[in-house]
Amino acid sequence: MPTPRTDRAPARLVVLVSGGGTNLQALLDATADPAYGARVVAVGADRDGIEGLARADKADVPTFVARVKDYTSREHWDHALADKVAAFDPDLVVLAGFMKLVGPDFIARYGGRTVNTHPALSPSFPGMHGPADALAYGVKVTGCTLFVVDAGVDTGPIVAQSAVPVLDDDSVDTLHERIKVAERAMLTEFVGRMAREGFTITDRKVRFGTP
Ligand code: GRF
Repeated sequence: MPTPRTDRAPARLVVLVSGGGTNLQALLDATADPAYGARVVAVGADRDGIEGLARADKADVPTFVARVKDYTSREHWDHALADKVAAFDPDLVVLAGFMKLVGPDFIARYGGRTVNTHPALSPSFPGMHGPADALAYGVKVTGCTLFVVDAGVDTGPIVAQSAVPVLDDDSVDTLHERIKVAERAMLTEFVGRMAREGFTITDRKVRFGTP
């Protein structure tokens, strides 16, 4: 997304989900305001029958599904996923609780303009179990990280982070729910800024605005 969108058509977002889609819902709600500067043009998933897809349907946003098991290899799935995303010509791809790693083909086409949200403060606790790993370690503060996707697991350049306290009586679920409140606010604020202001990435530093 090289240029700010202030005086232009809203940035086109394709959002990928795997579950309940509360982060997607936050984006759908935010993009209802024309001043937000972006709109969700499609929602994709790696599985059928999830609440995230139902939320898209309800908002009259087109959906697509690419299931790994329907392809002969992970590489074919990755290529097909990138093709399905490309059909909606996005400016920015948002992985919002998308529980698959995108592969080399996807990154070749959408690297640098795909963001993901992770429920931990990177570089701590990467992977599928961020809240559980933070709780087990005994940290007093955790949070969430919005980052630009690269080939690693939750390793890409950081766009934003938000801290959340860990309470003595937390379970994984109570902690994750507290993180998700911060995650939704972070996601909507910073995806909006990326859309409106543009951004650059130099030596892992993500900066808003154009050079
Ligand atoms: C989020 O915490 C996301 O970071 C994690 O799974 C959760 C998805 O929540 N990977 P939702 O589907 O957006 O409600």
